[in-house]
Amino acid sequence: MAVAVEMLNISKFFPGVVANDNVSLSVGEGEILGLIGENGAGKSTMMNMLYGMMEPDLGVIKLFGKEVRIQSPNMAIKLGIGMVHQHFMLMPNLSVLQNIILGKAPTKKGLIDTKEAKEKIREIMDTYDLPVDLDEKVYQLSVGEKQRVEIIKALYREAKVLILDEPTAVLTPTETDKLLDVLRLLKSKGCAIIFITHKLREVMAITDKIVVMRKGLVTGSLDTSEANTEGLSDMMVGRKVNLEIDRKPYQPGEDVLEVKDIHALNQRGLPALNGVSFHVSRGEVVGIAGVEGNGQTELIEAVSGMLKPTGGQIIFKGQDVTARNVRQRRESGMSHIPEDRLKMGSAVNCTIRDNLILNRYYQKPYCKSGILDNKKLHALSEELCKNFDVKTPDSDYKLGTLSGGNMQKVIFAREMEADPDLLIAAQPTRGVDIGAIESIHHKIIEVRDSNRGVLLVSAELDEILSLSDRILVMYEGEIMAEFKRGEADERTIAVYMTGAKRQGGDDDEK
Ligand SMILES: Nc1ncnc2c1ncn2[C@@H]1O[C@H](COP(=O)(O)OP(=O)(O)O)[C@@H](O)[C@H]1O
Ligand SMILES: [Mg+2]
Repeated sequence: MAVAVEMLNISKFFPGVVANDNVSLSVGEGEILGLIGENGAGKSTMMNMLYGMMEPDLGVIKLFGKEVRIQSPNMAIKLGIGMVHQHFMLMPNLSVLQNIILGKAPTKKGLIDTKEAKEKIREIMDTYDLPVDLDEKVYQLSVGEKQRVEIIKALYREAKVLILDEPTAVLTPTETDKLLDVLRLLKSKGCAIIFITHKLREVMAITDKIVVMRKGLVTGSLDTSEANTEGLSDMMVGRKVNLEIDRKPYQPGEDVLEVKDIHALNQRGLPALNGVSFHVSRGEVVGIAGVEGNGQTELIEAVSGMLKPTGGQIIFKGQDVTARNVRQRRESGMSHIPEDRLKMGSAVNCTIRDNLILNRYYQKPYCKSGILDNKKLHALSEELCKNFDVKTPDSDYKLGTLSGGNMQKVIFAREMEADPDLLIAAQPTRGVDIGAIESIHHKIIEVRDSNRGVLLVSAELDEILSLSDRILVMYEGEIMAEFKRGEADERTIAVYMTGAKRQGGDDDEK
């Protein structure tokens, strides 16, 4: 089969950073290339050049053997390249149909021929099993559906090369499996696919070959049949990954959080929490395991003050805070790393520094009589970047220039700087590479070891098992089981996660 894309000896320089240093890769028709590497390795930059968002400083791009200069995404699209970005590029207020045909609508007598467009899209949806409601507004869609729209959009433009930048970072395991099926189908139809991910399981499952990048360089280029996950993670981080973290012996202190019989409704007004009770003490990590969508989000929102419960109490450091708002809870020592960092935790168009101080710019010593002390603020943000290993030349850069993992470190740094008594961490390592996961896990254990409480919610069972002193399993808005560290393994917990079993129930042998 023909070689579809060749990127040869590509270099790209940003002020203070060599994003790509003499990188080469290629992918053929009907082939899937996995592009992997830690956050900041230079993967997105490579693909942004292929999609015409920027041009290489050095090197050559060839499409089907012919050298090309791709100067804009429009040109890339004309050349048959489609890209599903890490952060979706759809227009939220337009319908699915409008988004798909934007700039490429068929016309009849000067009017948009919706019928023809719809027919063409239906065919794509049927062929690739990508169902979406064409009349729905994009902002109403789930993350998985938005991604489907992006893929349909690329196929509607007849992409022969499809780039997906960390598509599974935002998906649930079931959605991920479906996406992988779609990619297999695309491959069988001859599409050339470049698939960026951190997740080695996915790389092993679906790719034909792999390019590993680290700090702008290629550290490995091999066929998937020759690869194993250990070797790949070594190439990614340049050292063995340590997922077992040393921690002080478990000696829980007084309760920092007590959740008493909380009931709450979800966004659609349906019951999401049906009488949840538990506590978090100082010096422990309490992990909430569960399949996503079983009330974890609402639980975090109720504890942090974003969602008003319909019943029950939240006691924080001995005080009933149920009626207090987010800011009041924050100021009394509750920190929160939100689940959706792009939507709630950060402002991508503001500088890293501004994001670091988002919740304290109005406090002393950074602000006196309403005037900000910029020098102090800059010094603080530089120090935080250093301590939390945020990879950037300067904290005056926009947050949006950072990779997902580095953004997450910024949010983490901000929340930790507030010196919290309770840290609420929701999916703290979602979409984050192995190196950054390790550093975030260490920080979480540091919080615990310094005699504070951590409430951790994660869909990654590995993460729950490796960090938690106690594990609560949630299913349909209720706690189904509680385990001490080491008491239960992955398989045992999974049984409770699916609701097949409940502690204290008739069929419980414990
Ligand atoms: N537009 C930009 N301006 C300045 N620096 C950038 C820009 N885009 C990326 N970088 C930097 O280039 C490096 C590689 O980033 P990126 O390609 O996003 O990595 P990855 O996708 O592998 O996480 C990072 O250090 C990042 O901060
Ligand atoms: Mg990236």
